[in-house]
Parts: sequence; C-alpha cells; structure tokens
Amino acid sequence: MADLFSPMTLMHGPAMKNRFMLAPLTNLQSHPDGTLSDDEFNWLTLRAKGGFGLTMTCAAHVQAVGQGFPGQLGVFGDQHLPGLTRLAAAIKAAGSVSALQMHHAGNRSPKDIVGQPVCPSDDPETGSRGLSTGEVEQLIEDFVSAAVRAEKAGFDGVEIHGAHGYVLAQFLSPEINKRKDRYGGSLENRSRIIFEIIDGVRSRCRKNFQLGLRLSPERFGLKLAEIRDVAQAVMRDGRIDYLDMSLWDVFKEPVEEAFKGRSLMSYFTELERGDVRLGVAGKITTPAIASQMLREGADYVLIGRAAILHHDFAERARDPAFKPVALPVTAEYLANEGLGPAFVKYMSTWPGFVEAA
Ligand SMILES: Cc1cc2nc3c(=O)[nH]c(=O)nc-3n(C[C@H](O)[C@H](O)[C@H](O)COP(=O)(O)O)c2cc1C
Repeated sequence: MADLFSPMTLMHGPAMKNRFMLAPLTNLQSHPDGTLSDDEFNWLTLRAKGGFGLTMTCAAHVQAVGQGFPGQLGVFGDQHLPGLTRLAAAIKAAGSVSALQMHHAGNRSPKDIVGQPVCPSDDPETGSRGLSTGEVEQLIEDFVSAAVRAEKAGFDGVEIHGAHGYVLAQFLSPEINKRKDRYGGSLENRSRIIFEIIDGVRSRCRKNFQLGLRLSPERFGLKLAEIRDVAQAVMRDGRIDYLDMSLWDVFKEPVEEAFKGRSLMSYFTELERGDVRLGVAGKITTPAIASQMLREGADYVLIGRAAILHHDFAERARDPAFKPVALPVTAEYLANEGLGPAFVKYMSTWPGFVEAA
C-alpha cells in the first residue's frame, strides 16, 4: 500500500508529490463577471504552498447560463484567461499540480443570476427549460472549449463536475432526464454527454493534459448501481486520469436498502481501475483517516473543510497524530488562513463552522 507521502503518477501530465488533493471548494470570491479576484488567488495559492499534491479550483462555469453561485469563477470566455493564467502559474511555482473544475449548474442555477435556467428536460419545479439536441451539442462543445481554455491558461488538467445534482448529474438522473433523443432514456444515453465531453477533451487538448471526473452516487434521483456502472466504464477504458468520488462521508453506508451492510465507498474501490486513480472525499479530517482510506483501497484523498481550516493540512499531516482545530472557529481565524470576507461569510452559512460574531 502506498503511503500518504509517496508520489502518485497519472497516465498523463505531472505526478502528484503526495496523495493529497485539494477538493474543489466554491468560495464566492470571484468578480461578478467570473474573473479571478486577488482573494481567490490568495486562498488557492496558499493551499498550493501548503503542500497539496494537486490544487483544484472551485467549480467554474462553462456557460454564463450555467452559473450556480454569485461570485463564481468563470471559464466560459477569453476574458477569464488572464486571471486563470496567473493562478495556474502560481500553483505550479508552489510545486503543486493544477486542475480546474468545469461546471454547469443546470436547473440549480439561481434565476436572479441567470434568468431562466436550462436543464435536460423542462422542470416545472424550478421553471427550467429543457435543452434542444442542438443545445446539448453546444453544451458539450462549451465544456470542451473550457478545457482548451484551461490548457491555454497553463493548467495541468481539468476535472469534469458530474456530481451533486448539477447539469451532468441531471442528465444521469432518470427522474430529471425525460429526453427522447440520444441523450435520454437508457443509461448509455443518459451518460452519453459525459463520454462525449471526455472524448472532446481528449481529442482537442494536448496529449499530456490531465482529465478527471467527479461523480456522486446518491440523491437527485441517482441509482447507485448505475453510477457504479458509469464509474466502471470510464475506468475500464482508461479514458480519464482520475475518478473523484464525492461521498460527503467516506464511512457512510448507501441509502438504498439493497446495498446496505458495507460502506458506500467500497462499491467503488472494488471496481477494476487499470491505471486510473481513484480518490474519495467526505469527512477526511485527519491524517489517520486519510491513511485508512488508502488502506481501504483509495489511491488518494480529497480534503475539503479541513483544508479550509488549515492551508497547510497536507504538510501538517506528516504528524500522524495531527487533528484540525475544533469548530466553530472565528472569522479572524479563517482570515488568517487566507479566506477573504466573501468566503468567510459563505462559511458562516455552513452550520457550526464559524462562531457567531
Ligand atoms: C464550502 C464548500 C464548497 C464546495 N464547493 C464545491 C465545488 O465547487 N465543487 C464540488 O465538486 N464540490 C464542492 N464541495 C464539496 C467538497 O469538494 C467536498 O467533496 C466536501 O466538502 C466533502 O469533503 P470534506 O468533508 O473534506 O469537506 C464544497 C464543499 C464545501 C464545504
């Protein structure tokens, strides 16, 4: 078994120097037009300096209509290039591999930001409009163009955000996706959009450009068995470099009765993965838990909230007994860890994270 500080090679691009990946973390710090701010630059580059083997940006929207949050990073136009170029260069200079997470919120886009949201099928609950087949093709093209833009900016790779009920997960969901064309119906059709984005990125970006995919197996009408099939298909063909399973809690059991009795994570670690690397995210708060994940079959770990608390979590993890600071923390504490005011305010909306002022 690899230890947390052994390097991890990937099929394309640079190796990670250790098994710690910064989880993609929305921080609401970008300018209203999606260009990078100094606060977002500082937040991320401090994590790269803090020892993370790979530093991932927050979800960045690939179409203006796919914006999911105010102050979200954008990657849908060349106006985003200067900021992204500055960011990629600084992450690299800190010795960390860089990745940009590509996102579209679909029916979860707030109306006051995007007007009418779009998604796989008309959705009366959110007032979202179903995309035409031509618009799905355009969406694929915009994911691929975003990857080309990230490559141009100097990123080592991109991650496709197929998790958390956003647009690609909406396509996967038989509850949300009622399409009659080749992007709806069978699982093969519902997952087609993801595979076409993967193929597009592979054919249009340079050979050694890294490609990851994030999936989550529950909620939003997803079926564990189906997501496991998609995970197996992407890994079997070695189409991606890494699969990032967002579990929210690496110890939890599946929600679906038929799968209870062992951890949700185990349904993915048991898959054949060839040279594709498998990472897991969800409540990995100590080096001891991180090591346990490698023992249980993950190749690397993604650190979210513990990396918000400690910019240098990956370095501190050299001490196997390290435990993060107790919650809640003060706003001042988070400011000292490199969070700007907008991010501190956002973290106050996560129960029990920030001490009331
Ligand atoms: C403040 C915050 C913002 C997040 N933003 C994103 C995001 O932009 N993209 C994404 O895929 N997941 C996002 N997540 C999920 C995290 O990447 C991670 O999977 C989750 O927090 C579980 O890991 P943790 O327990 O180590 O925090 C976010 C989580 C938090 C707490």
